[in-house]
This record gives sequence, structure tokens and C-alpha cells, in this order.
Amino acid sequence: MFSFLALSLLVSLAVARPTMVVHERIHAAPAGFSAMHSAPASTMLNMRIALKQNDISGLEDALMAVSDPASALYGQHLTKEQVEAFVRPKPETMAAVNAFLVENGINATSISPAGDWLAFSIPVSKANDIFESDYTVFSHAETGTSAIRTLGYSIPASLRGAIDLVHPTITFPNTIGLKPSFSAPVPTVGKRQVPASCSSTITPACLQALYGIPTTRATQSSNILAVSGFIEQYANQADLTQFLRALRTDNTNATFTTQLLDGGSNPQTRSQAGVEANLDIQYTVGIATGVPTQFISVGENFKDGALEGFLDIINALLAESNPPTVLTTSYGQNENTISRSLATQLCNAYMQLGARGTTILFASGDGGVAGSQSARCTTFVPTFPSGCPYMTSVGATQGINPERAASFSSGGFSNYFAIPSYQASAVAAFKTRLGSTNSGKFNTTGRGFPDVSAQGVNFEVVVDAQTGTVSGTSASSPLFASIVSLVNDRLIAAGKSPLGFLNPFLYSAAGTATLTDITAGNNPGALSSPPSICVCSLVTDWRRTGCSTNGFTATTGWDPVTGLGTPNFALLLNAAMAL
Ligand SMILES: *[C@@H]1O[C@H](CO)[C@@H](O)[C@H](O)[C@H]1NC(C)=O
Ligand SMILES: *[C@@H]1O[C@H](CO)[C@@H](O)[C@H](O)[C@H]1NC(C)=O
Ligand SMILES: *[C@@H]1O[C@H](CO)[C@@H](O)[C@H](O)[C@H]1NC(C)=O
Repeated sequence: MFSFLALSLLVSLAVARPTMVVHERIHAAPAGFSAMHSAPASTMLNMRIALKQNDISGLEDALMAVSDPASALYGQHLTKEQVEAFVRPKPETMAAVNAFLVENGINATSISPAGDWLAFSIPVSKANDIFESDYTVFSHAETGTSAIRTLGYSIPASLRGAIDLVHPTITFPNTIGLKPSFSAPVPTVGKRQVPASCSSTITPACLQALYGIPTTRATQSSNILAVSGFIEQYANQADLTQFLRALRTDNTNATFTTQLLDGGSNPQTRSQAGVEANLDIQYTVGIATGVPTQFISVGENFKDGALEGFLDIINALLAESNPPTVLTTSYGQNENTISRSLATQLCNAYMQLGARGTTILFASGDGGVAGSQSARCTTFVPTFPSGCPYMTSVGATQGINPERAASFSSGGFSNYFAIPSYQASAVAAFKTRLGSTNSGKFNTTGRGFPDVSAQGVNFEVVVDAQTGTVSGTSASSPLFASIVSLVNDRLIAAGKSPLGFLNPFLYSAAGTATLTDITAGNNPGALSSPPSICVCSLVTDWRRTGCSTNGFTATTGWDPVTGLGTPNFALLLNAAMAL
């Protein structure tokens, strides 16, 4: 520490202060946050810098070429080295940023395989000095969340073309936490008998019948289905076994493997089992029969943001020479809680993993047009990362006959990402049908989501040895992921490439034809009952969900409630085999 200080002192004497330019600035902290006081000078900040990537539009072209069935390169996924060549910052970019850091006595470490992210720890005083920031302790009154952030920061003018963003700066923690995308994960405790009918409780047998999902074992050991775990949600093997003994009597021995990062763990004490993690594991292992399933538990090393974990899980998979063929994530948050630059960086990470041949699925969220959770709103709130055009967003349906939209299924249009070409005509056709409904409530140039949907209401699960039901797009994403994994198993067995990034295929005529169009239901995001803890002034807010509208309505063709529709295994397999 002593020599570190001395070095930086010498350097600051020797080097003239560079001309600084404001790089990012917001006018005020997000609603609910108040500035308490200046951050203590000696508090250490875990900082990250995203460097300008070498050729991200080249990588986007490459991703589309390997994902578009009309392209000659379809299925020829990129190697680790090929992706890194697009992403690795130019030598002069790295040299310029390194020189700046070294001048300031900072020893940064690369935290991504392509070297486009650097991390280092410095005290608040030093951050304020070198980034002309004003790190302040902000507190969120309702949730008690506190975070050290700055409303703006500057970088040397000479580095404008080299630095994409500095974090943590203007992206505040998500005030509702990075919650599972369902709102009422309360298992009904102690119910022993399982309702017979799929119209009241969804079990693996219901889904196998509805979507034609096979029960025969997958055979390909390289075909890994990965399940993201965040916020200390642990997946429990004993609960899984109890679930399988009740509902998959033909596959009771199935297990999953665990990968840990950022200080993550997966303790097996049953009372520590997480509803979200158990749901995700039970409806992957329990549906994707025989597919090697990996639970990735991302720890809380970065407590006040968790977006670090969103980046780190992707960089960890990018570092593997054979990453999973499918990754499902049932976490997300409102797009407006993340800066545009950070959202773009995370989206670029999905672009990289998609180019490697991984199908990336996320739950679309559970607040309908109001965002990731039901909330008061004036204009519609898109969710992240569903607005990112390089992943597949999964909404929720309910009911068997007819299958219709779940009212909580988040859907809408991004404010950060423009309509990608693969969905341009599908989105245009929807807007023609929509006419002036909801006009002014959503961004007419934004990427539409979700892309697809699947059942998401009243899934039977076992949590801490108790049987209960849960609902949410959190159920839909692992279910859809399992179906893709089973298709990949057959493709790989036939010597073909796995499906990889799905959207260009799904929106093509051949892809759309594999899906069952859902044409009933809407997504105001209203809760079916008042919140369990009733703050009486908020009761009207609960009723006023959907931003004072009925949300969007599912209709013929793509819609921002159920996307293109729900899966059919046989049709998807046949179309995929024909690619
Ligand atoms: C920089 O940090 C890394 C790991 O954090 C360490 O291995 C290395 O020795 C450090 N280098 C210097 C010059 O302090
Ligand atoms: C499960 O494991 C037991 C003992 O290891 C074995 O006897 C049984 O055949 C297995 N069942 C299945 C369905 O694989
Ligand atoms: C609407 O979306 C576009 C991206 O298509 C974005 O550039 C623009 O800023 C958004 N408008 C608003 C008001 O957020």
C-alpha cells in the first residue's frame, strides 16, 4: 500500500493532467434513491472498465450468418478464437487504457477471455480523482438498499474511442433486487395429493402431452443444458429426487452437476432450497430426459449490483472450449434500471456466446407491460435482457384448451435496442393489427419481445420436501430450454450442429410453422389477488397495473404477449433436421 501511494504520487507529479471529457451522466438518481452523504474516501470500489471491442458489427454479421437458415454458413458456429478476434480490443486501445491505469498506479486484471473487460479495486478518493466523479452514498427509502454511485464521470479525451464504460457509476442497483421473475412463489404446504387435471396443475406429463415432448433418453454427453442461479437461490438434489419419484417414475435417478463462480455455492440443506432454483432444475432435469444439466450458481461477490454476475456467467462460458448448447435464465429486471451502455455490453456478451452456438433463453418477466414485476406505471416498461436482439425471450401461457396468454407475461418493445431485421415483418404485421391502441405507451422503433412462449402457470414443484405450485415466465424458460436441448440431442446424434441462436430460424417461415400461434389473452400484468402485505395506500396501485391499460392482446402472428407461439417438439425437430 505504501509503495503504491508513493508511486502514484510520483506519477502525478510527473504527468500533466489530461484533458477530461464527461463520458456518461444522468440528471438524478432513479426514483426512490436519495443522496445521503459523500462516500467515505477510503472505501474500496470494485471497478470495471469495458474497452471498445474490436469489431462488434463484424461479429453481429457472423452471428447472423451462422444463425440464419438462408445463409450458406448456417450452423457453422464460431470457435473461441474466432469470437475473440472480433471482440479483443485493438492493441492501441489496450495500450492507451493500460497506460492511463499505470500512470495512476492501478494494477488492473482482465476478467474476460477476449480482454475487453478490466477490473481493479481503488478507494473512492482515487476514483473521484481520476474520473472526476462524485461518489455518494445513495439510499433507497422503501427497500433500504444502499449503494455508492456517481451521477456522472469523465475520462481523458484521448480515451474516448477506447473506453466504452466504467462501472459502477450511473447504473444503480435494481431496487426490487434481481428477483426471480415470478411474484408469488409460495408453495402450498402439506398438500399430498396431486390434482389429476392439467387444467389446474401442470406436471411433466401434462407438458409431454401438450407439446409432444419425448420421454426417451437423450444420448449426447456433449450437449449440456445450463441453468443460471443467482441471489443465493440453491437447487436441491433431494427435492429433485422427490419430484422425479412423484412425477417422472421412469427417470427417478436423474441428477445435475454444479458449477460455481463469483463466490457461489449450492448447499444441500433442504431448508435452503430456493423456489426459483428448484423450479428451474425440476423443469429441466424433469423434462430434458437424459440431457446433462448443469446448475451454475453465481455468488454474491458483487452484492450491490448483481449485473456483474450477469456478465461473469457469460464470460465464464465464453472461456470454455465447448460451452453449453443451451443456457436458460429466469432472472431479469426493468430495462430502465440499467444504463444503455451497460445493457449494450451485456447484450454484446450474448452475441458472443450465441456465435459459439449456445441458445440463450431468458424469462421475459412477470409484470406484463408494467415490467419485470407488477408495478405502477405510466408508459410501458420493457424488461432486460429481453430487449437485447441476440437472445430468445420466453413469455408465458396458461390453460390447455384453449392455450392462452398468462396475464403476467411481460412483453413489449425495447427503448435501447432497435427492431432487428429478422423480426421486422412480424412486428410490422402486429402493429398494423394494433392500430392506435396503446399509442404513446411504447417505443415504435424498439425490438419486440417475447419471441416465443410456453406454459407458465401452476407448475407442480417440490421445495424443502413440500409439494406446491408456482407460476411465472420463470417456468416457461426452462421448459422451452429443455425442448431445444432434446432437439439438439437428436441433431448432434445425426452429426448436425446444435440450433444455437434461435431467432433468425424461429422468425423464418419454416421456424414459425413449428410453433402454435396463441391468439387469446392479454398482458396487463395485474395480480390475481392483492399483495399479501397490504399497505393500504398501495392497494389502488396494485389494481392500476398495466399502466392503466389492458396491456397488449395476443393475436394471429407474432404479438408482444406470447411471441410467435408455443413449441411442438416433433415439428421443431423435423424443421431443424431439414436445415
Ligand atoms: C497485479 O495483480 C495481480 C493479481 O491481482 C498480481 O498477480 C500481480 O503481481 C500484480 N502486479 C503488480 C505489478 O502489482
Ligand atoms: C436407479 O438406480 C438404482 C440403484 O442405483 C437402479 O437399480 C435403478 O435401475 C435405477 N433406475 C433408473 C430408472 O435408472
Ligand atoms: C426508442 O427506441 C430506440 C431504439 O430503437 C432508441 O434509440 C430511442 O432512444 C428510444 N426512445 C425512447 C424515448 O426511449
